[in-house]
Amino acid sequence: DWVMGDYISEAVENIRKQVGDDEVILGLSGGVDSSVAAALIHRAIGKQLTCVFVDHGLLRLNEGDMVMEMFARNLGVKVIRVDAAQKFMSGLAGIADPEAKRKIIGKEFVDIFQSESAKIKNAKWLAQGTIYPDVIESAGKGKKGAHTIKSHHNVGGLPDDMHLQLLEPLRELFKDEVRELGVALGLPREMVYRHPFPGPGLGVRILGEVKVEFAHLLQRADAIFIEELRSTIDETSQQSWYELTSQAFAVFLPVKSVGVMGDGRTYEYVVALRAVQTQDFMTAHWAHLPHELLGKVSNRIINEVRGINRVVYDISGKPPATIEWE
Ligand code: XMP
Repeated sequence: DWVMGDYISEAVENIRKQVGDDEVILGLSGGVDSSVAAALIHRAIGKQLTCVFVDHGLLRLNEGDMVMEMFARNLGVKVIRVDAAQKFMSGLAGIADPEAKRKIIGKEFVDIFQSESAKIKNAKWLAQGTIYPDVIESAGKGKKGAHTIKSHHNVGGLPDDMHLQLLEPLRELFKDEVRELGVALGLPREMVYRHPFPGPGLGVRILGEVKVEFAHLLQRADAIFIEELRSTIDETSQQSWYELTSQAFAVFLPVKSVGVMGDGRTYEYVVALRAVQTQDFMTAHWAHLPHELLGKVSNRIINEVRGINRVVYDISGKPPATIEWE
């Protein structure tokens, strides 16, 4: 039977036995899996754990600060924050192809993670938030799923002379079990039940070439969309539209269209809203969001985010469209 308290004691005991007095490094992404792994390992070995959090500048609005607040401040976890937005932006300059962008983001990630990890003396273990579906998936052929990102922090990507062993305490758990564990370890429910976010982040939600200016506009538009989804409750189910959708986000379209504002003409960028419902993310339906909700989000984005003057809603299913636009 799945009794969380017992499970945690046993997991903590196992981690302590495995690690002994050694130091452990963990690449914290802010996602559910690496966050729960960090919380669990910290419960077991405290200060022997050092997390490396690479902020590529393509995270959701205020995400970097929230990660630091949650781990460093609230849980007392040792976290090294690397603000690498500029490095990623220069790597991405002039690159428009989606897969090329993914490769560059992945490579920058490995580089930064390597050099930061190398500074942590006496580290013997590399911890990862690998969960059971990742184990299954990576046994098959490589696909552009979440595991691609995790494989960026694998042992093969680190200097050989570090001789790191893998510590993967979530290897036997399914996603819903990881979430329950996270809540039991004291992570905020709101964080643990978030929609999935791709490793390359806003890098694949800004179509074509990524620019800092675009990232800032998109972060604000996306935050408004998510805020309204969270605060709009569906009468019938008594759930928020955030809970009623599996994934929802804004996409930045680098095209300009004409608008009017006061007595002036505007010529600004377009944002597309995407919200889907799915069980497995392999197929998905576009969510039938209430028109009032869509109208409110559109008004707020256009009024509050100067630089965006048009909002459209994506009504494509997967297949034939994918969930992300790139
Ligand atoms: P698509 O767009 O293929 O997305 O329908 C399916 C799910 O996978 C996520 N996704 C990614 N996750 N790195 C990730 O970690 C990626 O490169 C990537 N591309 C898509 C997407 O957000 C959705 O949940």
